Amino acid sequence: MKKGFVLLFLLFTFFAYAQKFPNLALTPPMGWNSWNKFSCNVSEKLLKETADALVSSGMRDAGYEYIIVDDCWQISRDSMGFIVADPVRFPSGIKALADYIHSKGLKFGIYSCAGTKTCAGRPGGRGHEFQDAYLYAKWGVDYLKYDWCSSDGQSQKESYRLMSRMLKEAGRPIVFNLCEWGGSKPWEWAGEVGHLWRTTGDIFDCFDCEKKNGGWSAWGVMKILDMQKDIRQYAGPGHWNDPDMLEVGNGGMTVSEDRAHFSMWCMIAAPLIAGNDIKTMSQQTHDILTNSDAIDINQDALGIQGMKISSEDGLETWLKPLSAGDWAVCFLNRSATAKPIDFDWIKNVVTDDFSKRKLDASAETFKIKDVWTKTELGTTQKALKTEVPSHDVLMLRLSLTKK
Ligand code: GLA
Repeated sequence: MKKGFVLLFLLFTFFAYAQKFPNLALTPPMGWNSWNKFSCNVSEKLLKETADALVSSGMRDAGYEYIIVDDCWQISRDSMGFIVADPVRFPSGIKALADYIHSKGLKFGIYSCAGTKTCAGRPGGRGHEFQDAYLYAKWGVDYLKYDWCSSDGQSQKESYRLMSRMLKEAGRPIVFNLCEWGGSKPWEWAGEVGHLWRTTGDIFDCFDCEKKNGGWSAWGVMKILDMQKDIRQYAGPGHWNDPDMLEVGNGGMTVSEDRAHFSMWCMIAAPLIAGNDIKTMSQQTHDILTNSDAIDINQDALGIQGMKISSEDGLETWLKPLSAGDWAVCFLNRSATAKPIDFDWIKNVVTDDFSKRKLDASAETFKIKDVWTKTELGTTQKALKTEVPSHDVLMLRLSLTKK
């Protein structure tokens, strides 16, 4: 009897503490992060102005929720080991910043690292896990991105499990973003530990390049897209593959390339973390980031990551099953010339073994809407004949009309 009780207690403790906070990130997290545009140049002024701009630009209302300060907000640890924010850049302190962001109806995210130092050489979290989790909770942090620099000799599984447990113990629901660049295949083990995990090295603001940086490379959006192969079954509500933050509006790509980048991130149920200067963005960037039809596809409640069904001569066809029998379809033209499309819905029956969904236009009819031009394109009873410009997409929502 006594033994049974002890066992039950141990089991309860294990499940209470071994797992991440439930019911968070039920759709891919949306927000803004400082790194892609501002790298180490962060301050409370930048974060507050960005929060204001997120509201005034309509981005908050479009779904962007988390304002995340990346590396370089921290400068040292005090004599008791508590992390200290840079007093010049954050003169009011992190708690005041979190309060400000909350007062705008937004949530606040912060960055640290499982190793001894962050990637920019600031103090990391190793050895201070509970102390940091406690302080983050006290400050009102809602999201933690946890990096993997200076982690020699550490194991990803152990380090991220430890921080996940400490966050849980600190008691405030915090979305936990593992950022170990895919090295330990976190999609295979981190479903219980975090809410999203980076699947690759850093993104670079180009369509299809590799940016070599000595021992490591950063990758253009098409390269990153290709690296998402074979992992879609690991994504779903509360646990997402993270192909890194958006480069939309950062100037390295054309408007059509930015649109293709955003569309594909929507198709693969990626977190939509904008990485541009919200205060000064162009109308075109604004219109890409706030396209409600594209965002609806990304945020669909089923949380099914889309799949590539064909690739021919630089033209790829992607599908994403959506709620209520709908589908998203995206034709992605990666080539240097425009590509014709002649797609007979009735002849192209597609079965998705993962979601057990079947797109069969001979059995069901769908209305077609072009997500970017907002035009209605008839139904799936008629073959689709059009063309897609170079480095651009044709993104459609198929709405089920009748069985
Ligand atoms: C790593 C991460 C980036 C960014 C930087 C900060 O490279 O992958 O996303 O957080 O560190 O130094």
